[in-house]
Amino acid sequence: MEPPPLLPTPLLDEATLARACGLLAAGQLVAFPTETVYGLGADALNPLAIQRIYALKGRPANHPLIVHVARWADVTRLAASIPAPLQQLTEAFWPGPLTIIVPKTTLVPSAATGGQATVGIRWPVHPVAQQVLQAYANPLVAPSANRYQHVSPTTAAHVRGDFPDTDALPLVLDGGDCEVGLESTIVGWDDATHTVQLLRPGHITPDAMQAVLGDSVPIVDVSTLPAARAEKVSGQEARHYCPQTPVILVENPAKLPSGVEAHQCALLAWDSTQPGWEALAKQAKAVLPVGETPLQYAKHLYATLRHADTLNTTTLLLQPPPNTPDWATVWNRLQRLVK
Ligand code: TXA
Ligand code: MG
Repeated sequence: MEPPPLLPTPLLDEATLARACGLLAAGQLVAFPTETVYGLGADALNPLAIQRIYALKGRPANHPLIVHVARWADVTRLAASIPAPLQQLTEAFWPGPLTIIVPKTTLVPSAATGGQATVGIRWPVHPVAQQVLQAYANPLVAPSANRYQHVSPTTAAHVRGDFPDTDALPLVLDGGDCEVGLESTIVGWDDATHTVQLLRPGHITPDAMQAVLGDSVPIVDVSTLPAARAEKVSGQEARHYCPQTPVILVENPAKLPSGVEAHQCALLAWDSTQPGWEALAKQAKAVLPVGETPLQYAKHLYATLRHADTLNTTTLLLQPPPNTPDWATVWNRLQRLVK
C-alpha cells in the first residue's frame, strides 16, 4: 500500500485563497492541482482571461478547453442538456477524473470551446481544486498547465518550470504530487448510434463505466475509429505529451537500433529484472523505474519523463509494460511519445 497523499493542512490559507480569487476576478491566470495533472486556470466566463491561456501555452485557438466546476448549479449553467447515460456517469464518478462533452449554453464563451457548440465539463476531486472552485464565483477553464505539446505537469515545480514568468502566471497553488498522474477520461454521446464515445482514456476505465451504464448502452472507443473521427479531440493527436529527448520503444533489449548506444541512454523501466533487461539496465547511463503496476506507472510517468530530460542522454529507451487491458490508458499515452 502506498501512503496517503501528503497535503498541506489547512489546504490553502485564507490569504492565499483570497489572492487566487482576486487574480481570477482580474482576468489573470492561476495554476492549481487536480488529482490528474495541474491545470492552468482562468475564469471560464471571461474571454480575455481565456485568451491569456492560449497565448501563454502557445495552444492553437481551435483546441477546446475543459471547464471545471464544483457545484451542480454551475453544471446546469454550462450544459444545455445532458444525455441520461452521461448524467449517470457523472453521478457515479464525480467528483473525479471524468470529463463529459455536452451541448453548451450561450453563457459559455466560444473562446473556451474552440468555437465548438459543445463544452467539456469536469468536477475534480482534489481538495485544493475544490477549495478554489467553491470559493470563486464562476467555473474555471483549465488545460493541463504545460507548454503546448510538452509533458503534462504533476507537481507545482513542473508548472513553474514551463512558465517561469510571474507576470504571465502570478500564482501556482501547490497541492503536492498528483495522485492519478494522467489526464481525465473524456466521454461524449453519439445520438445517432446511442453510444457513449470514449474520446480520451483515463483513470475511469471503460469497464468501470460499463458497469454503471449496463449492457444496453455500449461504449465506443474512438481511437478504434478511422482517424478523421478521432481527430476531434486534440489530446488524441498522434504526437503529444512529449519530452525533449527522443523516446524509442525497445522490443528486444539485446538488440538496440544501430547508432543507439546504451551508455548514452536512460532506460524507462517497467521491470528491469525481466529476462534480458538486466544486462541493458547495467549498460544504460541511468535506469528510471516508472512503476510496476498500471496505477503507479500512470502516477509517475510524466514526472519521470521530465526528470529524464535533465539527464543529458541521447535517447530514452522505453521498456514496454504488459499489453493487457489494465495497461490500456498507459499505452494510450506511451504511443504518443514514441518516435
Ligand atoms: O485531467 C484533465 O482533464 C486536465 C486537468 C487539468 O483537469 N485537463 C486537461 O486539459 O487535460 P487539456 O486542455 O490538456 O485537454 C483537454 C482535452 C483536449 O484534448 C480537448 O480537445 C478536449 O479535452 N475537449 C475539451 N472540450 C472539448 C469539446 N467540446 N469537444 C471535444 N473535445 C474537447
Ligand atoms: Mg494537455
